[in-house]
Amino acid sequence: MERPAPTDSIGQPAVSSVFAFPADWREGVYQAIYRRRDIRRFRPDSVPPEVLARVLQAAHHAPSVGFMQPWNFVVVADRQTRGRVQDLYERERLAAAQFFDEPRRSQYLSFKLAGILDAPLNICVTCDPTRAGPAVIGRNSAPETDLYSTCCAVENLWLAARAEGIGVGWVSILKLPQLRAILGIPPHVVPVAYLCVGYPDRFGERPELEEAGWLPRRSLAGTIHYEAWGRAAHPDWPALDRLTPAVNASTPPSEQPST
Ligand SMILES: Cc1cc2nc3c(=O)[nH]c(=O)nc-3n(C[C@H](O)[C@H](O)[C@H](O)COP(=O)(O)O)c2cc1C
Repeated sequence: MERPAPTDSIGQPAVSSVFAFPADWREGVYQAIYRRRDIRRFRPDSVPPEVLARVLQAAHHAPSVGFMQPWNFVVVADRQTRGRVQDLYERERLAAAQFFDEPRRSQYLSFKLAGILDAPLNICVTCDPTRAGPAVIGRNSAPETDLYSTCCAVENLWLAARAEGIGVGWVSILKLPQLRAILGIPPHVVPVAYLCVGYPDRFGERPELEEAGWLPRRSLAGTIHYEAWGRAAHPDWPALDRLTPAVNASTPPSEQPST
């Protein structure tokens, strides 16, 4: 059986491959992944168009089922439009409080869960299920794969933005029909992600919800099943979680504010 290549630290493979990136490229990929954060507080500085273009280009190079590329990117800078989305968010945020009992309800209400007006730019990433006609390779048995593809584009966008020093915050506390109406999105197109985009004050080391004690990061060990669901260990497998390096997302010297 071919085993995944264990690493003894980020960018230091124990098993080499001719297709592996050079160490600094690899390091960059892992750094973008571990240092990406959901950002809700932004500085007002606008994102230069050429940087935005690079980030959208990265999103557009995401994998997609049958190469259908079902996404579109509605880029919104207009403050009035963002204000209407903010109103929608605020209504939904308050309505969702009913799902939590005290003291969680008060804690939920204390969270800042969007930076729609703080960020200079919002991007709505949509999915058009009709994009490549009725027959799409790989999608016939699982129609929702068009949505999965769009989420891959969102993640590409999020990671590329992190590499550019740009923060992205996903806002899902929105009712889709109203969001469609505000942005003029046709009824058959699904708004998958509403993103706040801009330069943050900081990228935290850990998710804000983890820092606030809302939920902890679960152990990697608990997510891995060996050979079949429910097998937490297997004689043919090493414990993969013990082979991973510690994740270090502390602020690198290049990002520390100068004094
Ligand atoms: C599908 C999706 C929807 C999300 N919706 C919201 C949201 O409405 N508001 C918010 O503050 N964060 C939202 N988030 C961000 C998560 O809270 C965040 O990813 C998680 O807490 C982990 O933090 P990190 O992204 O900084 O690692 C969403 C993330 C995803 C993937």
